Amino acid sequence: TAAYTADLVVFGGTGDLSMRKLLPALYHSDVEGRLSPETRIIAMSRGGLTDEDFRGKVDAEVRDQVPADPGAWQRFLGRLHHVSVDVGGENRSGWSALTALLGGHEQRDRVFYLASPPMTFGPFCRDLDKAGLVTPRSRVVLEKPLGRDGASAQRINEEVGAIFDEAQIFRIDHYLGKETVQNLLVLRFANAFLEPIWNSLWIDHVQITAAETVGTPGRRGYYDQAGALRDMVQNHLLQLLCMTAMEPPARNDREAIRDEKVKVLQALRPITGTEVDRFTVRGQYTEADGMPGYLDEPGSTAPTEASRRVETFTAIRAEVKNWRWAGVPFYLRTGKRLPRRASEIVVQFKDVPHSIFPGGSPNRLVLRLQPEEGIELHIMAKEPGAGEVALKPVPLSLSFGKTFTARVPEAYERLLTDVLAGNPTLFMRRDEVAAAWQWIDPILASWESSAELPEPYPAGSTGPAGAHELLARSGRVWHEED
Ligand code: BG6
Repeated sequence: TAAYTADLVVFGGTGDLSMRKLLPALYHSDVEGRLSPETRIIAMSRGGLTDEDFRGKVDAEVRDQVPADPGAWQRFLGRLHHVSVDVGGENRSGWSALTALLGGHEQRDRVFYLASPPMTFGPFCRDLDKAGLVTPRSRVVLEKPLGRDGASAQRINEEVGAIFDEAQIFRIDHYLGKETVQNLLVLRFANAFLEPIWNSLWIDHVQITAAETVGTPGRRGYYDQAGALRDMVQNHLLQLLCMTAMEPPARNDREAIRDEKVKVLQALRPITGTEVDRFTVRGQYTEADGMPGYLDEPGSTAPTEASRRVETFTAIRAEVKNWRWAGVPFYLRTGKRLPRRASEIVVQFKDVPHSIFPGGSPNRLVLRLQPEEGIELHIMAKEPGAGEVALKPVPLSLSFGKTFTARVPEAYERLLTDVLAGNPTLFMRRDEVAAAWQWIDPILASWESSAELPEPYPAGSTGPAGAHELLARSGRVWHEED
């Protein structure tokens, strides 16, 4: 393994993402030898903490999340620093402190990781530039959501683009770091048998689901402004759709892969006007079985009109208008407080052209991202026994956990390593983000102007009735319901 020497500066460094995802991922990278002894992690926040305070906080909140070997843990803590910064404010002392810390290390790689709300991206980049901290070896990582619609995303991209070159900008979507998602490319493009049938002649439809059992406790401030469409569909689900639908790239190379993905986004059939009601569903969970409804979730802010209108569930019937996929619906679905945590891509094949046995059902390929990463191909087999031939669908299944003994890295670990290595293949290019928003914007606009509220669904149920009707209209059902 290569060991990277870098100064990694995390804005929002004491926030939830940093404490739950970034720091554990960096600890694993450290243990596996990917961080050289000189590499430093500098958290920026408004918190007014000293290095010692911050190390204490990480010790208290992160240590239990990782299998911490005492020696390795102490070494990791030693890499941590904290700088207090006044975001967009008059007080420049934080910036001078950062300048002092980074001074003399201009030849090192610098990574500025913006794990802060999107409206801070532009101001932070300008502040970094003003402080003279942006070197040719600097990179900037932008967390999602990138803006709240196409126009704000464009503004942010321009502001950041005024300071950093596109090659220095890493727009993160952690779903792209998940093993199964990368495996989808290997499955599709390193095996001969799938590609000939990966099209509308053989595939009936595709279902892409990211279902969560968790609610949104303590996140109302963010979630009221986001909702499931911005939080999950604009980025994660559309990226999964791209990986499923893209044409084979000529090379395994950053631009070749992203070129093919952006073509999928550009081929999405726009859903506008009255079609929004027909092809999209939105829901909000209500209290049930001892679980609070969205409006009753504990949080620092009281529910407002925005809370009543925000969707915690959405299902959409999308279509990729090109030769390969004409007429094949891609059903997207995501929600909070659903009965099981499951993220998966289900490719539903068509029935055999002519059936000679009673009781067969069409093949299906399931790519599971969560909870246990794996791939299942459901084929028809004969049930053992004399007498009438009886068919049964049985899975040929690959469980990554059982097949490979190596630890499966978390998505953030993979992606942070790619940032340190300067490899942007699994990050969103500017034109991808723009194309994704272009498809999302009319849906958002229609929802926002609608007098109707999201359809209620009881916490712990499979979502609003509309989601089932969306498929039932064409005689289909969601994967877990048949
Ligand atoms: C994040 C969303 O991007 O993804 C969260 O902001 C969501 O709302 C999370 O819970 C889901 O990620 P994962 O990896 O647990 O599926």
